[in-house]
Amino acid sequence: SLSDLEQAFQAKIDAEQKIEPKDWMPAKYRSNLVRQVSQHAHSEVIGMQPEGNWITRAPSLRRKAVLLAKVQDEAGHGLYLYSATETLGTSRAKLIEALQTGKAKYASIFNYPTQTWGDIGAIGWLVDGAAICNQVSLQRTSYGPYARSMIRICKEESFHQRQGYQIMIELAKGTPAQKAMAQDSLNRFYWPSLMMFGPHDSDSAHSAQSMKWKIKRETNDDLRQKFIDQTVPQIEYLGLEHPDKDLKWNEERGHYDSGEIDWDEFTSVINGNGHCNRQRISHHVAAHEEGSWVREAQNAYNKKMKARRAS
Ligand code: 3HC
Repeated sequence: SLSDLEQAFQAKIDAEQKIEPKDWMPAKYRSNLVRQVSQHAHSEVIGMQPEGNWITRAPSLRRKAVLLAKVQDEAGHGLYLYSATETLGTSRAKLIEALQTGKAKYASIFNYPTQTWGDIGAIGWLVDGAAICNQVSLQRTSYGPYARSMIRICKEESFHQRQGYQIMIELAKGTPAQKAMAQDSLNRFYWPSLMMFGPHDSDSAHSAQSMKWKIKRETNDDLRQKFIDQTVPQIEYLGLEHPDKDLKWNEERGHYDSGEIDWDEFTSVINGNGHCNRQRISHHVAAHEEGSWVREAQNAYNKKMKARRAS
């Protein structure tokens, strides 16, 4: 049976009370959060690479400025989430080491290459759209620092999603070549966007416990269904073909039935064998090493300030 401490903890969770850094928590609650929040942060930071790839090649100055702002936002989201993870007693250096050695994961979608400008539209529209479904739900997560970071992040994500969809509108309503580019990006990013919600609930290692502790407020399949339903009219408005040939409205469910995701692809990508996994990590290692002088300078400065205050 649960210990008194664990019973008191579960009573707080059931009463919708936020768990704060100084509160007692089961070791597994702590480790589950370090895992999820740090991987959320890794996803934001690695996600800067596919998008950053198009900053120098954006089709107009306005598009370049908007994309630059979005990529900077992702960096900020990452730092916010690393800070939330550190409140659980783990160091940034340890988290970065886990990412760089492949011990930790990041969202599989970012291992796909961004081959055309249409991909930047599809990422904003579909990837940030999926992230919004997931993150709006996580605003109610039981761990205080994580919930508060989600509230801040959700405000910026809606801009990301709108700017992506606007790119898709311009392409889909443009020349036949532009419409074909939009269709190609939709075809290549639709299914990997569905994978962002994780495996089916029946195959999810963490969902049951994460729902009990209200780390998760809705299951992988429920959030995925919400995303599938909301995307259908958006595809129709663009006048594009839906990539899921088995999609069908199910009256009694009140949702769309959809075709099956390629879970072999999902597994191979999250185990490091996607198109760009090695490139994403080697880029991160190079940038991290290039920036080590900034960390050393900051540490030297902090030490000097501390010595001055102490004297
Ligand atoms: N990519 C990589 N790994 C994934 C994954 C995906 N799309 N979906 C699931 N996994 C991993 C899980 O991390 C877990 O592995 P682990 O035990 O080594 O961590 C395993 O697959 C089993 O999945 P579970 O469903 O059991 O895991 P979770 O309960 O953690 O659910 C999740 C997975 C829904 C992704 C959940 O972790 C979550 O909600 N995370 C926060 C959301 C997030 O990370 N979103 C990325 C957004 S970043 C982004 O989109 C930037 C954008 O703004 C550009």
